[in-house]
Amino acid sequence: MSAKIIDGTEIARAVRQEVKQAVNERIDRGLPVPGLATVLVGDNPASAVYVRNKHKACAEVGIRSIARALPADATQAEVEAVVNELNQDNSVDGILVQLPLPRHLDEEKILAAISITKDVDGFHPVNIGRLAQKGRDPLFVPCTPAGVMVLLEAAGAQLAGANAVVLGRSNIVGMPVALLLVKANATVTICHSRTRDLAAVCRQADVLVAAIGQPEMVRQDWVKPGAVVIDVGINRVPDPTAKKGSRLVGDVAFSEVAQIAGAITPVPGGVGPMTIAMLLKNTLRARQLAEQQAIQN
Ligand code: GUN
Repeated sequence: MSAKIIDGTEIARAVRQEVKQAVNERIDRGLPVPGLATVLVGDNPASAVYVRNKHKACAEVGIRSIARALPADATQAEVEAVVNELNQDNSVDGILVQLPLPRHLDEEKILAAISITKDVDGFHPVNIGRLAQKGRDPLFVPCTPAGVMVLLEAAGAQLAGANAVVLGRSNIVGMPVALLLVKANATVTICHSRTRDLAAVCRQADVLVAAIGQPEMVRQDWVKPGAVVIDVGINRVPDPTAKKGSRLVGDVAFSEVAQIAGAITPVPGGVGPMTIAMLLKNTLRARQLAEQQAIQN
């Protein structure tokens, strides 16, 4: 194995520690601690686990968190009413509506209802619009994409002028990662289910970000020697030799790609831990923004 392994667990721990220290300093100075509200609609078990982990991580760094849960048949008006109530609540700095929402709900409208100064997920159309525009910056960058950029920096990836290929164009990961890479002056190609000869396109990449949700799809011969490979995929596959009968794999065939890449994130322990770490960082930033706004008004 020749690739440097990018240790997301360790890098995320450092980010969480930095947030914890900033929160402790606020407490010492008698300032309010940041507050995060989550909104969970329905009973998707994976979403429930993600939300629970977010609250646990908040508690560990001293961020106050409140959980709002609505039934799977909640109406559009009911969900929007909860978001509006949280927008008005001065003790809430960040609002996170867990995705995916039940299909009968209008996700776009609900995300647009979140105050942009509390949009710690960075999914509000104004924040995404600013991310897409030259010379403009969003108030918040979506958490997983922000985590990918921190890992690239930690790996020492040279982004300016590099060929970056992003596999996947989701609103949550692929598209915002691509926009961030453009801001970092990379030449970016976004691949998706209709892309012709994916392997050949990927082989051009100095930086390859895989976010397609296909277990071990990226093989060794898709990767340019020395490339930096970031694997966002978390896929559960059957494994009769594992105690649980299954194991987690990424979108990249790790053991073979690690022989040729310059640096690579493992799964688990790569991008996964970064998402919550960046959420904590965004929540702290939301509190700081609220204070700056109070000074200006
Ligand atoms: N579902 C999967 N990832 C995310 C995320 O980063 N934020 C929210 N709100 N929902 C998600």
